[in-house]
Amino acid sequence: MSRSILDLLKERSGESFSLHEQYLNAQMVRVLKTIGFDRQYVRAMGPYLYDDQGDRYLDLLSGFGVFAVGRNHPTVVRALREVMEAELPGLVQMDVSLLSGLFAERFLATVPGALEKAFFANSGSEAVEAAIKFARYATARPGIVYCDHAFHGLTLGSLSVNGEDIFREGFGPLLPDTHRVPFGDLEALERVLASHEIAAFIVEPIQGHGVNVPDASYLSEAARLCRAHGALFVADEIQTGVGRTGRFWAIEHWGVEPDMLLAAKALSGGFVPIGAVALRKSVFDAVFSSMVRAPIHGSTFSKNNLAMAAGIATLEVIEQENLVANAAKIGEAILDDLRAMVDRYSFMKEVRGLGLMQAIEFAPPDRLKHRAAWKLLDSAQKGLFAQLVTVPLFKRHHILSQTAGHDLAVVKFLPPLNIDDSDRQWIARAVDDVIADTEKVGGAIWDLGRNLAGAALRSRTRR
Ligand SMILES: Cc1ncc(COP(=O)(O)O)c(C=O)c1O
Repeated sequence: MSRSILDLLKERSGESFSLHEQYLNAQMVRVLKTIGFDRQYVRAMGPYLYDDQGDRYLDLLSGFGVFAVGRNHPTVVRALREVMEAELPGLVQMDVSLLSGLFAERFLATVPGALEKAFFANSGSEAVEAAIKFARYATARPGIVYCDHAFHGLTLGSLSVNGEDIFREGFGPLLPDTHRVPFGDLEALERVLASHEIAAFIVEPIQGHGVNVPDASYLSEAARLCRAHGALFVADEIQTGVGRTGRFWAIEHWGVEPDMLLAAKALSGGFVPIGAVALRKSVFDAVFSSMVRAPIHGSTFSKNNLAMAAGIATLEVIEQENLVANAAKIGEAILDDLRAMVDRYSFMKEVRGLGLMQAIEFAPPDRLKHRAAWKLLDSAQKGLFAQLVTVPLFKRHHILSQTAGHDLAVVKFLPPLNIDDSDRQWIARAVDDVIADTEKVGGAIWDLGRNLAGAALRSRTRR
């Protein structure tokens, strides 16, 4: 290579949007420009991003939840550097690496119940694909049950158990024998399980779309029903896991022992793609039942040295820095701050979540003028009100957040687990300021609303 990557970045700085417009997803560029999120980030550390103007942003998005230990954590960086500099023999394939054995040992030590085997992959979706295949093979049944609004990924198998139609439309036919049930509805689940054709029920302990927290007995009862009907209970902890909710695995809040637990995202510290399945030995042994079947499921890059080393370092950081307890403590404090606002602001309906997986839901209030303003926005794009919060949070307060799904008037926070009390105060001040402004119908925030509604309508007409 004639130039260093850093020289290349310097030479071409400022071109990211035009390059993406030309060669990658131009619609993403349009979205960012429309909502004013088009910044040039030049550095990142812990929970903060820095742009080329020297401004600091608090990242409550964490790359969709991968930066649980914060960005560029020095311990994870050191582990990756060590692996590169040691010239280790990775991906020999006709070999079994020590690093993957060590990571499997540590990963399995974190999971609840009797999950004695690990399977590694390259993404959350790949972990889901593996779970579907393993469940079908081990039970010799075809059916997979999933929940309304579930998100388990976008590859064809995982899309087949995705409970959001917008992601599915036009990509069919998807996998047969998949069955959708409402999240929280045990009777519906039991009706489907009673067919005895069901291999597994896959569920997020807290749904990422909407941040839906289940009733106290839902998950344990669902697991019991699965067992009673010979189906496997699969906990998709790809977003909720690795300390996010104030327990290492969210399922621990309800004392549930799954038959398979799926992880990805934060498990490798945000540097190297990873996916992981922890599963019962009986299920694993059914699939990998003979030497001929040793390579029956896998993926070329899974168990690669960088992912495994990053995983080991990440688990160590989480333990050493007490990040699970921090997520529980600071998460509860933020939820308390936000809940205290619900009675003061008419558009705020509910604050919910566990640990550092949080949501604010908005709804039209009783006052006629406020209701009419809401309706106008909603008719342009359902849930658009949430953008009236995320956009000024970003532009005015330099807080990066997201809406909790298509069509939802729900703002979602998914911060790194190492945020501190000054970050908590930053969030409380900013949210208070922005939501106070939404009360002033006709004010600057509603001008923004009109602009966004116009853009949404124009985009709809173009389609
Ligand atoms: C609960 C859940 N499962 C699966 C996935 C898919 O993971 P990936 O994007 O790594 O394929 C996601 C991603 O957001 C997720 O939140």
